[in-house]
Amino acid sequence: MTSTPMPAPAAATPTAAAREAPADEGLRAGPLVTPPPAAATGGSMIGIEKVSKWYGEFKVLTDCTTSVARGEVVVVCGPSGSGKSTLIKCVNALEPFQEGQITVDGTRVKDRGTNLPKLRARVGMVFQHFELFPHLSITDNLTIAQRKVLGRSGEDAKKRGLDLLERVGLSAHAKKFPGQLSGGQQQRVAIARALAMNPVVMLFDEPTSALDPEMVGEVLDVMVELARDGMTMMVVTHEMGFARKVADRVIFMDRGEIVEDAAKEDFFGQPRSERAQQFLSKILAH
Ligand SMILES: Nc1ncnc2c1ncn2[C@@H]1O[C@H](COP(=O)(O)OP(=O)(O)O)[C@@H](O)[C@H]1O
Ligand SMILES: [Mg+2]
Repeated sequence: MTSTPMPAPAAATPTAAAREAPADEGLRAGPLVTPPPAAATGGSMIGIEKVSKWYGEFKVLTDCTTSVARGEVVVVCGPSGSGKSTLIKCVNALEPFQEGQITVDGTRVKDRGTNLPKLRARVGMVFQHFELFPHLSITDNLTIAQRKVLGRSGEDAKKRGLDLLERVGLSAHAKKFPGQLSGGQQQRVAIARALAMNPVVMLFDEPTSALDPEMVGEVLDVMVELARDGMTMMVVTHEMGFARKVADRVIFMDRGEIVEDAAKEDFFGQPRSERAQQFLSKILAH
């Protein structure tokens, strides 16, 4: 992990850059983030302990236990419907769960006293579909939550937002609307928007699976950079190249259970369970 401080943004307004810069500058050198230290003892950023969840009669998660240490990158994979999205939505309290406990940087997600908007502001989340506000410019997309949730001034929020936009190589697009950007570019904006909130962890739910194939790489590049900067990440993905490159651990889920939770080398070397072996052989066959 590097600790180079972030330089000031090149320009407060993107007009000059928008005229001169190429449409897509690619990733800029230097860290995307300098993650804050963990408040929790032991360095565990996410703790998931015996979590079970039901949708009515249907048990969607069964006794899930794992943890993600500070700076660790954990890839979550498994068949469709195995509970991957549900599990990570429980981490930032987008879904309630009936049993067990989850802590994020020492804060219990389920405590009555926990301020959920505040907690969610510390957990960056990027979904499959780039959920940018279509009626807002890219700059406004990047600044609205900083202003409304964190109470930053318009000027501070814009500075932070445009700096991150530059980091993901999209300064030239600050004044455009989401519909004018490609899917890959929108997803990079969504990542920048999440980072603008100074999250302590980032959750990704199949961030590249709705993209045209030629755009997958540019989004994974941003995620690789983020991982190398030391961000704590929990990533639901079937991009096994990404997992091999940056994951510390791989979790394999099936039918609501964490079937394997292994170091990357062990998982790819020889998954223990037959279910994981079958899954891997299917997705690696093509
Ligand atoms: N809101 C919901 N109500 C009822 N069942 C749901 C709901 N959301 C998901 N499920 C079911 O829970 C299971 C796990 O879903 P999900 O977490 O989305 O799986 P994955 O992300 O691994 O594909 C699936 O069987 C799905 O149909
Ligand atoms: Mg899912």
